[in-house]
Amino acid sequence: MTEPAPASFATDPAIERVLLTEEQLRRRIEELGAQLTEDYVGRAPLLVCVLRGAYVFLTDLARSIDLPVEIDFIAVSSYGATTRTSGVVRLVKDLEVDLTDRDVILVEDIVDTGLTLRYLRRSLEARGSASLEVCALLARESADLEGLGVRYVGFTIPNDFVVGYGLDAGERYRNLRYLAVYDPDADEVG
Ligand code: PRP
Repeated sequence: MTEPAPASFATDPAIERVLLTEEQLRRRIEELGAQLTEDYVGRAPLLVCVLRGAYVFLTDLARSIDLPVEIDFIAVSSYGATTRTSGVVRLVKDLEVDLTDRDVILVEDIVDTGLTLRYLRRSLEARGSASLEVCALLARESADLEGLGVRYVGFTIPNDFVVGYGLDAGERYRNLRYLAVYDPDADEVG
């Protein structure tokens, strides 16, 4: 039997510390939105949200862009933690919108090894879009952003296990309003 989750995130021992506050996230996402508004002026970009982690970022980013954006969702999955580095990613949910001649912005919560992004690029680049850029809220310091073609990044972060603002640990913590460092050893539930 697993323990019930702590009643509040504030008293959850697995939440080690706050890495990015709500305010820091809000400000940076407004900057990204302003940048995208400028870069895509006169166009109606299609924001492609990579489920599930990017769903919170997507909602705030989309509302920070002062253009008629369209939104669609894609979901991929890697075959478990142990095989992650083997490069096995599969499509779980495809887009519904036709990408032909569209200006596509792939919206990711985090670029870690880059495996997911490499797969998504391969998959989407074959679909005839006018352009394809990536906007990631977070990127690991170790990630090869240039090699992966990531044009827009919110924050570069160290290798800590982070949760909140869409990111999970065993499907929990996605609804945390800020980004926190998670300590698996202190988790009374997972
Ligand atoms: C996370 C995140 C990215 C991916 C990044 O997804 O949302 O899609 O990992 O890691 P990578 O650069 O090493 O490929 P995850 O598989 O945890 O699924 P989730 O978004 O549903 O939580």
